[in-house]
Parts: sequence; structure tokens; C-alpha cells
Amino acid sequence: MLKQGLNDRLIRACRCQPVDATPVWFMRQAGRFLPEYRKIREKYDIISICKNPELSAQVTMLPVTALGVDAAIIFADIMIPLEAMGVGFEIKEGLGPVVTSPIVNLESANSLTELNAKSELFFVLEAIRLAKRTLEVPLIGFSGAPFTLASYLIEGKPTRDFIKTKAMMYREPKVWYLLMDKLATAMGAYLRAQVEAGVDVVQLFDSWAGCLSPQDYHQYVLPYSQQILKNLESTGVPRIHFGTGTSTLLEEMKQAGGDVFGVDWRIPIDVAWERLGYDVGIQGNLDPVVLLADFELAKSQTREILERTKGRPGHIFNLGHGMLPDTPPERAAEIVKFVHDATRN
Ligand code: CP3
Repeated sequence: MLKQGLNDRLIRACRCQPVDATPVWFMRQAGRFLPEYRKIREKYDIISICKNPELSAQVTMLPVTALGVDAAIIFADIMIPLEAMGVGFEIKEGLGPVVTSPIVNLESANSLTELNAKSELFFVLEAIRLAKRTLEVPLIGFSGAPFTLASYLIEGKPTRDFIKTKAMMYREPKVWYLLMDKLATAMGAYLRAQVEAGVDVVQLFDSWAGCLSPQDYHQYVLPYSQQILKNLESTGVPRIHFGTGTSTLLEEMKQAGGDVFGVDWRIPIDVAWERLGYDVGIQGNLDPVVLLADFELAKSQTREILERTKGRPGHIFNLGHGMLPDTPPERAAEIVKFVHDATRN
């Protein structure tokens, strides 16, 4: 629950209610580009930060003061709960997660253990409780969606073409469905535990679902993301459903569920919103690379998004994907201020 008198723009926008100014936050705002974060990273690797509730809470709060954003996102990684399910992995600098023993058959899928979020992911839940004590903006909890997690588990490392993942889907449906079922159950429980610990909004990251055809998404992915999102419905906490390259999947993603949908820059935001329907909110759309350009260009692309969303209740300003490591913090802060000033009622 959000304390009385605190900034609730994000929550109101998630519910398509009018706001005093459009809420802004940036995916991956907590790590990467802030000098204070980089300093902490000189001493600790990313997993150690995630496992230390004090540090994780501290990193979570950094962008709220540094950028003036309307939400914080808990500092963790989509891979964290997988470790508690028996997956060994490393996060390689500049590359991403590398899994020690990728899933190749029924036996390896079977060996994934059930997740006991409350005991095994105590550190994430504790970081949430700590951050909530001080934060004056809503806190977003998150998990990876089953497809995106399965892609790391099967490929073993980041990929562009998802060949192993799709081949598993087509050739070994039994393994695929078992894996997706286990991931959906585990992420459902993990997100519920985050809500109980105090997060105000949850985001399901299906970063790579855009590599699928609508028919394959429907058959192989939708039921599992739907299970998670449905499971959260009774908590009353708003659910953001995010993916990239999803222009052809929006109707399917809406069917899977969510109160707000995250879109990237490959589709005009008004076209995406019209297709999703105005009964749900929309988030995203600015290409993160735009924040590497000068303020005039960043401002004009931001203005265009605001013109296309027309102040309609339910718009959350964000990037189409994560903030890039080279983003100048002052550019991000300028955009936050620009959006607030341009939309203030
Ligand atoms: O705002 C935040 O950064 C909050 C914390 C957060 C991290 N990962 C920490 C992190 C969040 C929300 C994530 C989500 C995540 N992790 C996703 C979904 C979002 C997306 O960008 O699509 C994915 C696919 C991952 C997997 C992952 N973890 C990748 C691909 C990488 C390496 C590439 C990179 O530099 O981001 C990571 C490592 C990682 N996770 C970092 C951070 C801050 C990298 C920086 C570091 O090592 O300190």
C-alpha cells in the first residue's frame, strides 16, 4: 500500500485515472548509467548487490533522487529466482546471463526445483521492505516472463535468433510445456511474495517474445503468461506486461493479461494503444538511443509521444527498452522534467 500523501501518479495511470502530470520512469533506471551505481559496482558484482538487501534498496532509490522519476523498480535481475530453482549462471560483463548447464531434454527440465520464494528469495523481499520504508514514490516489483526466461535457459546465453528455443518448442513439446509450466508457477509465487512484501505495481518482462509469430505466441506462450497475470489479479496490484518487437502480438498479449502494456519504438504509440483498447494503459515507446542525442532531438521525439497520447488517462512515459549504459544522467533528468512540465494540469 502506498502511504497517504505520496506520489501516486503511476498507480493512477495504471488504472487509467486522471493524473496531475504524466508519470515517468525508465526501465533499467536503477543500474548501469548512474555514477553512484558504478561506484558501488567497483566493489561488488551485480549478484552480490542483489543479495544484499541494504545495497539493493540503496540502488533502487538512487534514480528517484537523481532523475526525479515517479517510480522505483526493485534492484534485482530476472535470473535471480532461477538460481533458487537450481540453475547455475553467471552475468558476463557487457553480454548478459550465461547458464552453466542449459536445458537440453526432459531430464534437465525435470531437474528444475520448485521455488520457495519466501525463504530462498528472502533477500529480494527484505530489500523491498527496506526500500518501502523511505520511498515516496511507488515501488515496482518484477519477474521475467516464462518465454524470456526459457530462452536464457535453453540457449545458455544471449541470442538474436532464438533457434534452440524455437527448435525445443517445435521438436520437444513435452519438454517445452513442462518448462513453461514450472516457470509460470514459480514466477507467479515470486511476484505474489513481492506484493506481500510491499511492491505497489508489478511488471512482467517478456523482453524477447517479439521473435515469435502470433500463432506460436498463442499456442506456446500465452497460457503461461496468462497464468501468472491471472494469479495476480486478486492482489489488486496493477500489472504491466512488457515486450519488445511486439507490434504483431499486441492482441495476443492483451489476451494474456495486464493492466498496462509496454511497447517499443517500432510502432507509433497511438496505433498500439488503439489496437490494445483504451480500457488498458500504455507505457514506453521512446527509443533509448534518443537519450544519447542532444536535448533538442530528445525533446522533439518526447513531444511527439505526448501529442500522440493526447493526455489520455493511462499513459506512462518510458523508454521502449532499457536505459543504455552511456546515457548521460542529466539528459534523462531533463526529459523527466520536460514530460512533467508539458503535461502538468
Ligand atoms: O533498473 C534496473 O536496472 C533494475 C534492475 C534490473 C536488472 N536487470 C539489473 C541488471 C532489471 C529490471 C533487470 C531485468 C532484466 N535482466 C531483463 C529484462 C529487461 C530487459 O532489459 O529486457 C533481462 C533480459 C535481463 C538479463 C540481463 N541481466 C542482461 C541481458 C544483462 C546484461 C546486459 C546489460 O548490461 O544489461 C544483465 C545484467 C544486469 N542486470 C545489469 C543490471 C544493472 C548490468 C550491469 C551490471 O553488471 O551492473
